[in-house]
Amino acid sequence: MSKKPFRYPEIPSSEITPESVYLRRRDLMKAAGLAAVPLLAAGSRAVTAATTGGAPLEFAPAIGEAGFKTTEDLTPFDDITSYCNFYEFGTDKKDPARYAHEMSVDPWSVVVDGEVGKPGKLNLEDVLSGFDLQERIYRLRCVEAWSMVVPWIGFPLADLLARFEPTSKARYVAFETLYNPKEMRGTRSFTTTIDWPYREGLRMDEAMNPLTLMTVGLYGKTLPNQNGAPIRLVVPWKYGFKSIKSVVRIRLTSKQPPTTWQDLAPREYGFYANVNPDVDHPRWSQATERRLPSSLFKPNRIPTRLFNGYAPQVAHLYKGMDLARYY
Ligand code: MTE
Repeated sequence: MSKKPFRYPEIPSSEITPESVYLRRRDLMKAAGLAAVPLLAAGSRAVTAATTGGAPLEFAPAIGEAGFKTTEDLTPFDDITSYCNFYEFGTDKKDPARYAHEMSVDPWSVVVDGEVGKPGKLNLEDVLSGFDLQERIYRLRCVEAWSMVVPWIGFPLADLLARFEPTSKARYVAFETLYNPKEMRGTRSFTTTIDWPYREGLRMDEAMNPLTLMTVGLYGKTLPNQNGAPIRLVVPWKYGFKSIKSVVRIRLTSKQPPTTWQDLAPREYGFYANVNPDVDHPRWSQATERRLPSSLFKPNRIPTRLFNGYAPQVAHLYKGMDLARYY
């Protein structure tokens, strides 16, 4: 089998985060008071804190000047962490906050294989010490028509993939969540119709887009378990179900991989799942969204934007494509 190296598509410099906005490793260490401590220790401390329910390690107190921002109000931490979709722990929005602490996230590793020159495994410590972490303030738009604004901490998926040397046959990236029925009560439920593990996928050029983030924190701290600890994907121009949580495997493939929601209801959930106010879900309109926090008296309904407002960064990926057909 030929293992020709994958060639990066040309990325306009306007889309590349300036180096000055990167949260550099030494800042991370300094902020965490770990200047003299090896990064491996920093990583494991962060994870242990998440596992034990102790105070999570703070990444940095002030990283707000980082790029990829929005001026919209941030959704409060309590809303982001108490109103979640993580079906491995149940289908109620409150279930992940109630039960996700039952998932142990230390130790953790991510296997990267398939169409790569150098298949391998990344331990969480390698992730925390080996990539330049940045703050990205992104809108997250769920297919259920609610949305949030989240200050994530992460690094481009492209940086991770490059380490494993994708071959010229790599056209898609498939992701899998941890499947551990002992610690994930939703997967044991007799009512579940999901063929676990939860799976997602991207086209290679979507995966390499600078907006596509592997995420390890929010609000400057390690990810709470209910939001996908210790590492998840965030693809801000797609419906939230593409942003797969608690990732343990990344596989590069030549064929479009099967994905959880497409398997369950292909007429309702497509592979692309690009946010689009003009293509309704068969059972509800996608023209507007409820921006959290919202209540009966203050629904906070706002218009939904094509590609969730990220058209300048991603519209070129879908040039000439019928977005109603490839939903
Ligand atoms: N990942 C896994 N493994 N399991 C899930 O049920 N739900 C998805 C996505 N990632 C889900 C998942 C959906 S539908 C949404 S909207 C987002 O996670 C929600 O992310 P949040 O709970 O951090 O807001």
